[in-house]
Amino acid sequence: MMLRFGYKAAAFTFLSLVAFTSASRDEKEKVSKVQDPFPDRLPHERQLYLREVVFVIQSQRNSFHVQRAQRLRADLLSQAEALQESLPAVLLLHTLSENEGDWSILPLLPYFSSHFGENSSWVMFLEEETSIKLEKLHRVLKTFERRKEWFLGKPLHDEESTIIHHYAFAENPSAFKYPDFSAGWALSMPLVNRLSNKVQEQPLKSDFTIDLKHEVALYIWDEGKGPRLTAVPELCTLPERSPQAQGCATTVNTHSPLCGEPVKREDIFVAVKTCKKFHIERVPVVKKTWEKQASHLEYYSDHADPSIPTIDLGVPNTDRGGTDERLPRLQALLSCYDPTEPVFLGERYGYGLGQGGYSYITGGGGMVFTREAVVRLLASGCKCYSNDAPDDMVLGMCFNSLRLPVTHSPLFHQARPDDYARAFLAHQTPISFHKHWNVDPIAVFHNETETWTGHPRDLWSCSVAFMSRPSFS
Ligand SMILES: *[C@@H]1O[C@H](CO)[C@@H](O)[C@H](O)[C@H]1NC(C)=O
Ligand SMILES: *[C@@H]1O[C@H](CO)[C@@H](O)[C@H](O)[C@H]1NC(C)=O
Repeated sequence: MMLRFGYKAAAFTFLSLVAFTSASRDEKEKVSKVQDPFPDRLPHERQLYLREVVFVIQSQRNSFHVQRAQRLRADLLSQAEALQESLPAVLLLHTLSENEGDWSILPLLPYFSSHFGENSSWVMFLEEETSIKLEKLHRVLKTFERRKEWFLGKPLHDEESTIIHHYAFAENPSAFKYPDFSAGWALSMPLVNRLSNKVQEQPLKSDFTIDLKHEVALYIWDEGKGPRLTAVPELCTLPERSPQAQGCATTVNTHSPLCGEPVKREDIFVAVKTCKKFHIERVPVVKKTWEKQASHLEYYSDHADPSIPTIDLGVPNTDRGGTDERLPRLQALLSCYDPTEPVFLGERYGYGLGQGGYSYITGGGGMVFTREAVVRLLASGCKCYSNDAPDDMVLGMCFNSLRLPVTHSPLFHQARPDDYARAFLAHQTPISFHKHWNVDPIAVFHNETETWTGHPRDLWSCSVAFMSRPSFS
């Protein structure tokens, strides 16, 4: 069957070429317009050397993440060697400078432009969990005219306008496409060079970095002055072994790593941050659901209530929403982190990253601290500057001043499931969501399936903080 199909296709191509060469100029133009849906995807672009592709792994400083990034780098280089190509540059993003905000990519564009702008054709970005079939990827990149501006990736789109994208495109939320970073994404060098100038001349409009992939796509598109994302079907987020992944140049490793025995419940201390007005509405939900999954759990509130019981911190609350946590999944994830290292983990946001700002773990998705992180924080004497200061941002500032990086995990979510693209959630096993309304949180919690089904399964509480291996003395 395959052979016959191949033969037929070859014959078809031949016939159309014959028609093309014998046609008049006018007809030629007509034919090429009608028949070529990708006029810029060249079938036989002159040789693209693999070394003209700069690979950038979106790595993090934490030792577990460094290891994963190094493994991906070694894999890429050994594939390039096997192809007998001269080796491409494979960069680990976190080593390129001391700037904490580099994870937001845009501050690095001038670096890519000045180092590779003259001698390379593409910058290809990969996440730690992206797997690559280098030969296939090389073939895909060859089909694009490299002297043009290209922004390539696997498109995501919103189903409804969402707070994490500042309700952009409210009239037609699905119209704007942004890349799923897990599939890898690429910029052609002419685009990198132009953006590099733009970044230096024109700072970002928003101070906050919330959903980087969306913000990068908006910055590049620039209200129509720059290119839109071009969908490349070979960039995939399927698991590597999936039968549908045969044509894929990229695939995705599991999003929920397990690095040995899950951390024991007894080694996790859960602090539920609540406030008086939620003692009746939300705390019972926590009690009926995951309170039983936790060994050490305490409620911290602005009001002492012996029936829960809560511990009165003597601090008035400012309203900041609720979190859903899945302790077994968290226990598995934490097995990957060394509790003797100062780890501050969750969903990373940025504030003022373009101008030397700081990153923080957004409180609504849950914040995880190793014991060592807590010890260093306490020793530093860093404090809230006022009672209504956003606690998560203050913590971010504290860690930043201690020069301790925050560690990002895409499994924690500051917003509701509906606020994230369905295709993005489809390839992960989420740990937390936040701020849910109009659902019965208890029914949803008990309606658990092991993989994400696209149905909300959230529950309320106030922000939650975890401390691994706490000291109770
Ligand atoms: C381009 O130049 C950089 C140094 O500026 C070098 O590291 C890289 O290997 C060069 N790439 C090619 C393809 O020559
Ligand atoms: C449980 O989930 C399924 C599918 O995810 C849904 O159809 C069903 O209505 C849910 N049941 C409850 C009680 O929420």
